[in-house]
Amino acid sequence: MSTTPAKVAVLASGRGSNLAALLEARTRGELPVEFVLVGSDKAGAGALRLAEAANIPTLALDPRSHADRRAFDQELLRRVAASGADWLVLAGFMRVLDGAALKPWIGRIINIHPSLLPKYRGLHTHRRALEAGDAEHGASVHFVTAELDGGPVIAQAYLPIEAGDDEDRLAQRLLPLEHRLLPAVLGLLASGRLQWDGRAARFDGRPLAAPLRLGDDGLRP
Ligand code: GRF
Repeated sequence: MSTTPAKVAVLASGRGSNLAALLEARTRGELPVEFVLVGSDKAGAGALRLAEAANIPTLALDPRSHADRRAFDQELLRRVAASGADWLVLAGFMRVLDGAALKPWIGRIINIHPSLLPKYRGLHTHRRALEAGDAEHGASVHFVTAELDGGPVIAQAYLPIEAGDDEDRLAQRLLPLEHRLLPAVLGLLASGRLQWDGRAARFDGRPLAAPLRLGDDGLRP
């Protein structure tokens, strides 16, 4: 296996707490990757400030300065490719990427989504889980395809819903689990234990029959 650390680019639209978790995991020596770019569709994104503070190259690209969605996505992913990234992580990137632009990245791009997919694709996941009366909620990391939050799920973190939960409290309680889930999945991908076989995920050489599950000691089948 190559000793060169995997190169990772991250796209984020917001505060960047998941990016912060990735950077902290790397600082602790738990995630041997090199962050080569943090990009955003929002110049004011907190994630860009975090990246600057960590001396990671940043890119802010304004969708309004492009002819259409596809032109923006193609330019964005062209710039990501130019960074030399092997992997692309969507960490709170609030746009659906165009299928044609995504093509070269299929199998090398993951997203974190705050629900137990396939439940609650899209927005307002915490509210929807509460309204449905679910006993548990969670977060998923999945391979990205052109379908919104629809690619094969790699791993999930589960959280029991409590009587006192409202939308904000549930989101707050889920976030620390997201912050463990995303670095754990990226670590497995970067080490080669987790792979994409063209259709689905393989773990330690075997097709992943069900998503890995985050426990106290990390990800387990
Ligand atoms: C997270 O809840 C993530 O699951 C979702 O968007 C949120 C991003 O939060 N996709 P942050 O910017 O990482 O703090």
